[in-house]
Amino acid sequence: MMKKLFYVDACMREGSNTKKIADAVIEELSKRYDIECVRLSEMSFPVVDDAILKERSNGYVPEEYVAMAKKIAAADRLVIAAPFWDMSFPSALKVFLENMSLFNITFNSNEKECYGLCKAEKVLYITTRGMDISTGDVMEQATPYIKALSRLWGLGELSVISAQNMDYSSEQQKTNKVNAAIAEGLRLCERF
Ligand SMILES: Cc1cc2nc3c(=O)[nH]c(=O)nc-3n(C[C@H](O)[C@H](O)[C@H](O)COP(=O)(O)O)c2cc1C
Repeated sequence: MMKKLFYVDACMREGSNTKKIADAVIEELSKRYDIECVRLSEMSFPVVDDAILKERSNGYVPEEYVAMAKKIAAADRLVIAAPFWDMSFPSALKVFLENMSLFNITFNSNEKECYGLCKAEKVLYITTRGMDISTGDVMEQATPYIKALSRLWGLGELSVISAQNMDYSSEQQKTNKVNAAIAEGLRLCERF
């Protein structure tokens, strides 16, 4: 049986450059993994509010969210594609992750601390940024969050494929950047 890869597509814009990179990488990975994809541009997850928290404390979480969180927990690999928005990623992704961050499914806790329940040993985050901001820059608040959530959920090593300064590049430069990121992504696929 093929190993499983869960792919969160948080590319929100038609013609997304992030998605161009992710499509090529996912196509390559689909040769070796069974891909389960959730496209956040086509779905709408609720903001976790008081009503949802009350339902959760009464032991109720919608069946389809439980099923999806279980798929994430059981996946051998996780890929997230998301453009760089407001120095982080689109809120649709944060809302999705909040809905998937479920006690006893993606993480658990003992009397001392939380610990992860997810199986994926490797995570890949693909992004493009408008400004000339590199991965790990203090202005870049997407990677630190994904790393922190990976710790909570028990996910393994994070790799990042990015292109930057997109909004200050010519069409040709953008194409070159996307192609360079695809090439880097395909190289990474060999050990992902
Ligand atoms: C709502 C919105 C917010 C953005 N915020 C930022 C930002 O804070 N910093 C930045 O460098 N670029 C920002 N950008 C530019 C995008 O990161 C850039 O255009 C990126 O390549 C878009 O990816 P896409 O082609 O996959 O949609 C923003 C773009 C949008 C639409």
